[in-house]
Amino acid sequence: MENLLNLSRAAKLVGVSRGSLQQKIQDGEIQSFEGLIRLEDLAQAFPDADIEHSNEMDRYDRIIEEALIRARYGKMQQLLAPDIATMTARAATLNKELIRIKDKFRQHLDIIEQLKAKLTHPQENQLEAATAKELLNWLSQRLDEREQDDDQVPYLVDKDTYLKVMAAHVRMVPSGHDFFVEGQDSILEAALRNGLTLEYGCSSGNCGLCKARVLSGNVKQIKHSDYHLSESERLDNIILMCCNTPVSDITLEAPEASTSDDIPEQTIPLSIRKLDQIDGITVLQTRTPRTQRLRFMAGQTVEVSFNPELQSRLHIASCPCDDMNIQFHLPTIPGDPVSDYVQHEMSKSDKLQIKGPYGDFVIADETMSPLLFIAYDTGFAPIKGLIENALAQDTAQTITLYRVGEPNTAFYLRNICRSWNDALDVFHYHEITTEPDSSRYLDEIVSQHHRLEEYLVYLAGPYEWLAKAQDYFANLEQGPAEIKIEIMKY
Ligand code: FES
Repeated sequence: MENLLNLSRAAKLVGVSRGSLQQKIQDGEIQSFEGLIRLEDLAQAFPDADIEHSNEMDRYDRIIEEALIRARYGKMQQLLAPDIATMTARAATLNKELIRIKDKFRQHLDIIEQLKAKLTHPQENQLEAATAKELLNWLSQRLDEREQDDDQVPYLVDKDTYLKVMAAHVRMVPSGHDFFVEGQDSILEAALRNGLTLEYGCSSGNCGLCKARVLSGNVKQIKHSDYHLSESERLDNIILMCCNTPVSDITLEAPEASTSDDIPEQTIPLSIRKLDQIDGITVLQTRTPRTQRLRFMAGQTVEVSFNPELQSRLHIASCPCDDMNIQFHLPTIPGDPVSDYVQHEMSKSDKLQIKGPYGDFVIADETMSPLLFIAYDTGFAPIKGLIENALAQDTAQTITLYRVGEPNTAFYLRNICRSWNDALDVFHYHEITTEPDSSRYLDEIVSQHHRLEEYLVYLAGPYEWLAKAQDYFANLEQGPAEIKIEIMKY
């Protein structure tokens, strides 16, 4: 039987991003069969992916170790590992699968032995002797070869089994998106963490907005729900994604937003968690109520009411994958009412309100294209959200960020960019300082991207800077596949 893996599972097994695996398929280094990859081909393409020394395995080992320590001290509710019942249910599912595979394997061995016997006695079986001999040799040779196959394949099979207990795979219909549910996450939490834009509301089993239909596989309820599904919904395998976790690999049918128009306007109160001054920028960290989170797409804005007389449209500088923690970046502009308020009057006990989300400075759904971001000053705010979301989705081939500023610019929050650059193969970070009138830096950027026509380019910054950069790209002989711009008021 062929060992076929979907892209997400294959990437997880060998510890690379889905984007870089996709690149290998496009370059012809790995064959794919309708989006699936043979385990043997994966092992051949990644001969160094070793079960004993894999980061993913180390991570799961650490999770189990931590789980055991916490269990010993009676803090079971804080476990990061799946609970015992979920792990047992997943192990039981795997055991059934193992029994089925063993049975199939025994049947195939029987057939091979019968075939060998027929080929060994060609006359008794009315076979032509020379052909039978040739076939027998071929069969014996192939069986020997498979026995000597690289040790990598059994390693990867072991690892796959281990991962199936620790993390179940979810495939969404009709979008085709997929992700893993780890630890004690609900399906909804894992989907958001992986950058999906699902329909949901309270996240706590009250509103019923996160209904989905289980098409295959099994789930288990992990949170109490006050919302009552009707009898016919239950019979139709409808579940609440915020209250269930998978106990086997599953396929789920649920609506997803593919454009910003699919997301409704919401009004949500915010509390202030943190106000940091970083290199002349106020980084405002806010939090929604647990049961009223903001549904949005990375790169969008919201209308923030600081008080009944003071409102402003601000870019969200965080990722929808962390839908309770909403971040904003505000420059210091003496005389500007919002900036003055934030600098001199705002306190951590203030309550804000947001309405939104708005805008279409968003990335096309799970793009595989390489992404090029160019941010000027607080243009980094929406671009930070876009990058975090692209990293959560893990599908872009490469993500390159250029931050542009005048000489002596401090590039606030540059540590985050540098840590992405150091930790992630797909991410590349550059800082460029330039005189305000010059667009020579764009020559440098373009010269470093030979296949610019494949790139999606996102630019965010003040109007004049944007206009020049947009003109520059428009006059290129071979421009990028797409350009999106966002004008920053702040
Ligand atoms: S999001 Fe409200 S019930 Fe799941």
